[in-house]
Amino acid sequence: MKAAVFREVGKPLEIEDVQIDKPAAREVLIRTAAAGVCHSDLHFVEGSYPWPTPSVLGHESAGVVEAVGSDVRYVEPGDHVITCLSAFCGHCLHCLTGHMSLCESPEVQREVGNPPRLSQGGQAVHQFLNLSSYAEQMLVHEHALVKIRKDMPLDRAALIGCGVTTGVGAVFNTAGIEPGSSVAVIGCGGVGLSCVNGAAIAGAGRVIAIDTVASKLELARRFGATDAIDASAGDPVVQVRELTGGGVDYSFEAIGLKVSTEQAFRMIRRGGTATVIGMIPVGTMIEIHGPDFLAEKKIQGSNMGSNRFRIDMPRYVDFYLTGKLHLDDMVSQRLPLERVNEALAALKQGEVARSVLVFDR
Ligand SMILES: NC(=O)c1ccc[n+]([C@@H]2O[C@H](COP(=O)([O-])OP(=O)(O)OC[C@H]3O[C@@H](n4cnc5c(N)ncnc54)[C@H](O)[C@@H]3O)[C@@H](O)[C@H]2O)c1
Ligand SMILES: [Zn+2]
Ligand SMILES: [Zn+2]
Repeated sequence: MKAAVFREVGKPLEIEDVQIDKPAAREVLIRTAAAGVCHSDLHFVEGSYPWPTPSVLGHESAGVVEAVGSDVRYVEPGDHVITCLSAFCGHCLHCLTGHMSLCESPEVQREVGNPPRLSQGGQAVHQFLNLSSYAEQMLVHEHALVKIRKDMPLDRAALIGCGVTTGVGAVFNTAGIEPGSSVAVIGCGGVGLSCVNGAAIAGAGRVIAIDTVASKLELARRFGATDAIDASAGDPVVQVRELTGGGVDYSFEAIGLKVSTEQAFRMIRRGGTATVIGMIPVGTMIEIHGPDFLAEKKIQGSNMGSNRFRIDMPRYVDFYLTGKLHLDDMVSQRLPLERVNEALAALKQGEVARSVLVFDR
């Protein structure tokens, strides 16, 4: 099968032929229909997070089940699925306390010594985050996917695989905002726009979108933002405080920068909560003003929207199909796999909400 292979930090991905194995007992072979291009992949390509090479990147996808292993009962060939990198074991401390997105069990991967899921000429090609979506097929553990209704278009379903689940989930699950609360979102890419959309669905009274690109702020209004702030025109904290008379109840950082993480903390009111979603480069330290804790200000991380994805994702599908989740507006461009490097470059410019790689069916 054709796949985009990551060989070296800072270099374009290479379209190459990669062998994919047959499903083992608990594995599912999926024909990829679409894969969104999330900024997290770019962090790995740029080396701000380490990953072994060669590897097939991509982690935001949907497709159709082609074959299942002997023990799989949950899906069968022909089923439509969304993948999720938060593969869960189902019996560790995290899973059993309801925090499945924190599961780190290695049993969702193949044991060392067994043939690899992906290979080239007998040499292993590393699977990326349990998925490797920039490929015509994916071979994943049965706990890395959720079955969805067949009237959901698969290119938009793919977006739910990471960006939507991360952004909406940060609002619903990690922060758990209340109706009427005030929200600010820093960074309006696929993840930030999903925060804005999630906040609107959850009944936020005010949703302030912050970005440096004017077209993104325009777009954010379509997702439910009530106010927009251009972060390149001065400190957005001052403007948020002015707009809200002292700060927001909830802020969300959806870029992955030290400066915007510190802004997220400074723009919350007394008792407010800042939720950090962006992947801040390894080694970066965050500075916050200690006495602010006396005002009961809180800061927390959010991984993949603290998801229980087999519950959450079908709900997000329903939100889209009932007009609440604006996934049509999130697709900026559809491209073939061969143009994946263009999609990564577009992310760097900040101009796209999401590029989606679409595969021939
Ligand atoms: N925590 C998780 O589980 C998780 C999951 C998915 C993505 N992420 C991370 O979330 C972040 C966002 O991902 P994305 O795919 O939406 O990225 P993106 O590149 O599409 O969006 C980033 C947005 O931030 C804006 N921006 C850049 N610098 C800014 C600044 N100084 N002030 C205001 N706005 C600025 C850009 O214009 C762009 O609109 C990335 O760091 C990504 O790795 C984290
Ligand atoms: Zn992602
Ligand atoms: Zn587990």
